[in-house]
Amino acid sequence: MRNRVMAGNWKMNKTYSEAVELATGLAAELKDGTGSVDVIVAPPAVDLKGVAEVIEQEKAPFALSAQNVYFEESGAYTGETAPSMLESVGATYCIIGHSERRGYFGETDEDINKKAKKLMEHGIIPISCCGEPLEVREAGTHVEFVTDQIKKDTEGLQITDPSKYIIAYEPIWAIGTGKTATADDAQEVCGAIRKTLAEIFGQETADGIRILYGGSAKPTNVAGFLEKDDVDGALVGGASLKADSFAAMVKAAM
Ligand code: 13P
Repeated sequence: MRNRVMAGNWKMNKTYSEAVELATGLAAELKDGTGSVDVIVAPPAVDLKGVAEVIEQEKAPFALSAQNVYFEESGAYTGETAPSMLESVGATYCIIGHSERRGYFGETDEDINKKAKKLMEHGIIPISCCGEPLEVREAGTHVEFVTDQIKKDTEGLQITDPSKYIIAYEPIWAIGTGKTATADDAQEVCGAIRKTLAEIFGQETADGIRILYGGSAKPTNVAGFLEKDDVDGALVGGASLKADSFAAMVKAAM
């Protein structure tokens, strides 16, 4: 039995006060709880502490995620954030390998693999992203492309508790474009991801890992994705920037 996950990736949106306001609004929307759904918000790094304070003060039923991390403990890495720093402000999850990081900042599968290992050493749960660009989808090789990413991103990982490693499948052509994959498209790839995880880690571990869909997910389409066997939740961009729309998505998952 896998608990569903609804995760909001705020990307590079929200100043400190706007982030506090959004978190406060979300706490109010979700005041009656979220059932068995694990709700996660991922604000920009400078907003993490402020959102952590809202979570504590409001006893909000959601957890805090960073959007990125570096794989060294400390030192001369200007502009980067270490896992211990995320831990120190209360982040219990961290998104890694988002296609925007891969595309704009040159992150490789090797980097993503190192980040996952380092986060897990610190007890922070990685939300590891994968997904194909449009030309790969059009060539019909998306399943091979994504499962190859999974093999590289998980190489050598020790997954003892499968609830503590999350994958997000986000087809790049569906991110922020309003173009959504169909629920069947999502199931095709999420099912193939689970099969690959079973080959690597064994069926029992694979069955415990949550696989999320991301890419123009919104209140009106999220339920269709969640009906699919291997889709355990969503990683939401644009629709997570308003408390009422994200709360509606959480409720759809309950
Ligand atoms: P949108 O929901 O805005 O398409 O973004 C998806 C995404 O990239 C979440 O990480």
